[in-house]
Amino acid sequence: MLIAQISDTHVSAPEDPDDAVLHTSEHLARAVAHLNRLDGRPDLVVITGDLVDRGEVGEYERLRELLAPLRMPVFLLPGNHDDRGNLRRVFVDHAYLPRDGFLQYTVDGWPVRLVALDTHIPGEPGGRLCGERLAWLAARLAEEPERPTVVAMHHPPFAIGIPVMDAFGLDGSDGLAAVLRRHPQVERVLCGHLHRPIVRRFAGTVACTCPSTAHQVALDLPPANRLAFVMEPPACMLHLWLGDAGGLVTHLSPIADEYPAFTVHDGQGWVRDPRPPPGFHTA
Ligand SMILES: [Fe+2]
Repeated sequence: MLIAQISDTHVSAPEDPDDAVLHTSEHLARAVAHLNRLDGRPDLVVITGDLVDRGEVGEYERLRELLAPLRMPVFLLPGNHDDRGNLRRVFVDHAYLPRDGFLQYTVDGWPVRLVALDTHIPGEPGGRLCGERLAWLAARLAEEPERPTVVAMHHPPFAIGIPVMDAFGLDGSDGLAAVLRRHPQVERVLCGHLHRPIVRRFAGTVACTCPSTAHQVALDLPPANRLAFVMEPPACMLHLWLGDAGGLVTHLSPIADEYPAFTVHDGQGWVRDPRPPPGFHTA
């Protein structure tokens, strides 16, 4: 089983001044094409929040159009830039989304179970897992203690050493850790929010964050103290389940235009790939 994760798509309206700078829709279109042409076709895609930039209906409609070409099911969860009501309104046919309350759900039917959490606090950049949300998580994890599981949510439950981002962290990470320690079937905690690839041991499992499909947060470690976005190459994460013996392996897959290998191995020796590299044209 292959789970693809993209994050922080931040789709905005064409008239939004940020749209002309960040080009988030063009970047998402590129990410969708990338996922569709992967040799190992993902079974599903999860987008770990900040789906759109201002939580507006028009933005969600644009997001919907951009995701339409995906050849696999896609699962959405909210980040701090999202709006639960507008997300529900535009994706009303996404039956896994609860009709009211927190946007939390499970995805079943594959070897690895996905449990999505809602860390959104309306109007605030930080996130929260309150008692109600954590109790829901504990109940879901208790349902299938033997099933390898990934927990997906927007705000990561740990600090990363970039001060301005750590200021918008997750309230409730201690409670989350307490739940996860009781459920060793959780192979991974998949997060977004930080627009960077980051990995950390957390509560007996592995927690990681996925880059944005568009703009990345600059890696400004102390003593730097600024919030800057840079157009580093975007990427998605591919979480590959190799069975009980092999476990869950996470790959970072840069999103770039397709480029051919110069050589391929045919089993006996190296041969030239007949396709020209990008930017070069045969006479
Ligand atoms: Fe974001």
